[in-house]
Parts: sequence; C-alpha cells; structure tokens
Amino acid sequence: MREVGAVGQAPSLSLPTPFKTVILASTMGQFPLTLSRFITQKQAAQPGATGELASLLTQIGLVGKLIAQDLRRAGLINILGTTGEINVQGETVKKLDEIANETFLKVFHHSGLVCALASEEMEKPVLLPENWQQAKYMLLFDPLDGSSNTDCNMPLGAIFSVLKSERKDRMPTEDDLVRKGTEQVAAGYLLYGSSTMLVYTVGHGVHGFTLEPGIGEYLLSHEQIRMPARGRVYGTNEGNSHKWTTGTKKYMEYLKTPDRATGRPYSGRYSGCLVADVHRILLEGGIYLYPGELDRPEGKLRLLYEANPLAWVVEQAGGKASTGTMRILDVEAKQLHQRVPLIIGSANDVRDAEEFIQGRRM
Ligand code: AHG
Ligand code: MN
Ligand code: MN
Repeated sequence: MREVGAVGQAPSLSLPTPFKTVILASTMGQFPLTLSRFITQKQAAQPGATGELASLLTQIGLVGKLIAQDLRRAGLINILGTTGEINVQGETVKKLDEIANETFLKVFHHSGLVCALASEEMEKPVLLPENWQQAKYMLLFDPLDGSSNTDCNMPLGAIFSVLKSERKDRMPTEDDLVRKGTEQVAAGYLLYGSSTMLVYTVGHGVHGFTLEPGIGEYLLSHEQIRMPARGRVYGTNEGNSHKWTTGTKKYMEYLKTPDRATGRPYSGRYSGCLVADVHRILLEGGIYLYPGELDRPEGKLRLLYEANPLAWVVEQAGGKASTGTMRILDVEAKQLHQRVPLIIGSANDVRDAEEFIQGRRM
C-alpha cells in the first residue's frame, strides 16, 4: 500500500489520519461509487448509449431525496393523514401520496427526458407535448407505496418502470404506455426505510445504492444483487385468507408445517409496504404473495407500475415473479391501472407456490 506522500501532489503535506484513509482508499479503487458515476461508467460500456437513461435514473434519485426529506419531518409539518379524496383505484388518498406524486411530476416535467408520465394517483397519463420529439422515454410510477404506513412511521417506497417511446411521428397516447413488462428498459424502486435506497435494473443485473445523508449522494452499497434460490420467510396479508383459493390456502399451510429437511416452518414478515417486503426477499430470499382472491381473481396490485418493475428486478437477481399461473412479465397489458395477482421471490419458493395454486401439488 502506498503512503499519501507517494501519490499526492504535495509530498510534504501532512494530513490528519481520516483524510489519509480516504485518499488511500481512493487510490486503491475502493472509494465509494456515486449513483451518477456508476451509471455513467456502465453506460460507457453500452454502444450507442446517449446518457439519457443515466440522467433519468439520477432524476429518480433526486425524487427520492426530496420525498425522503418530507418523510423525515412528516409528523412535524402537518402532512400526515388523508386529503379527503378517493383515487382512481377507489382508495383513500394520503397527503403524502399527493406530495410524492407532485414531486415526480415536478422533477420530470422540466427534465426533457420523458414525454409521458403515468401514476397510480392519476386516472389519465400526463403527456408532455413540448418533449415528445426529443424525449426517448415514458415513465410509469407508484409515487408512494405502502401508504397505510405513513401515519405510523413505518417503511414506504416508490416504484418506477421506464418504457421507450418509439413513435416519432406523433404524440404518445395512453395506449402507448400500456405495454408488457418485457418491454421495460429500466425499472426499480426507492425504499424509505431506516435508510433511503435506490435499487434498479436496466437488464444487466440489479444494483442498490444507499443515500449518504451527510453528502446527499447515493453510494453503491449492493452491487449485482443475487437472491437465494430459496428463503425462510413469507410475506402476505393473512387477514385475507378466507378469500384465498384452495391452492393458495394449501400452499400457506405447507409453509407453516414443520419439516426440518425443507426448512419449514417459514417465518411470517409483512410490513404493508410491497417495496420493503420485496427488498427483504431480494436480499435474504423468501416469498411475497398478493394472490388472486375468490371475489377478486385479478388481485390487488397494479401490473404496470407495481408488479412489472418489481418482477423484472427480481428476475434480474435470479428470482421469479408469477400470477400463480404465468410469468408476470408475459401478462398482456390491457389497461393503465390493470390489477394482477403477484407471487414474487426466490425461484424455488415461487415454483412451489405455482404448483399448489395450479393444483399440481396438494
Ligand atoms: P399503495 O400504498 O401504493 O396503494 O400499495 C399498497 C400495496 C402494497 O404496498 C402492500 O403490500 C399492499 O398493498 C398492502 O395491502 P393490504 O393492506 O391489503 O395488505
Ligand atoms: Mn403500491
Ligand atoms: Mn401508492
């Protein structure tokens, strides 16, 4: 290892120890990589990349910083509770749902990077006529995921899916946003937990960044995430079990039946925030289920801005995402706010769940 004096411009400079450590680390190639530097380096390796996707992901990072700042003081500045409105999903709108949605819109409206934006909180997409000729991308997002957690200081998230805008002869329409998960060009999530994280994929693995609040930068903390093929944890809303199909009930019973050889019983972990539950599973393995129900076979979660982006992230880390009968990314998209059953997690766990749900195992 070389001393500071040997690599610096001023060999006689005597630095205090903490500075020495940082400088030595940087010369050893261990200096933490910022999100923008990491993405730029990755893009440089892609022939034809213009850097716009890198800018888009950096803007997602900015949204995360702005929302995280609101969330940190939410209990102090009267932004908890509901707005009194019901959204297009028929769900109560929290003040923070609206703030998070506005933040996405403000950051992306003037970015010049996207020509259409669609969100859980808006019945119709926002189309940006001023951008459509030069902007290559369209963004779909769940601005605040897990919003039942807002008022009790529990984890929250945001989910995003990026599509390419292929048509240069006209403005995009709502139909242009309604596309299969396999057509995504970038996807990921922001997690507002004990730290703020940004996790994304552009189809070459999954990378996670943690916001270093002292310097306001996301630093690479989880490079090339690979999830275990099997976990020990399940996440589902068991209060809905009376509405589950026989196959789902049998699978859940199976997970709770002790069997040393297969690592059962699994432990239950359900936060009420899909992003947080999927993040745990991404790092430690296991399975999350919001299955189709007897009176709601389409499930609860939304295909375009919840299931598809998380499905791609999980697949890119070696996991699986299914409706119970088919791969999420192959589901035909028909409507902007379409719902879909979601069973997502470690590949072997999702495979087991599919076998029970399809009645191939009892
Ligand atoms: P959102 O807050 O964006 O509407 O999403 C809530 C989702 C998801 O985050 C969570 O796993 C699930 O819905 C919770 O639903 P239940 O309260 O029905 O369990
Ligand atoms: Mn959500
Ligand atoms: Mn939401």
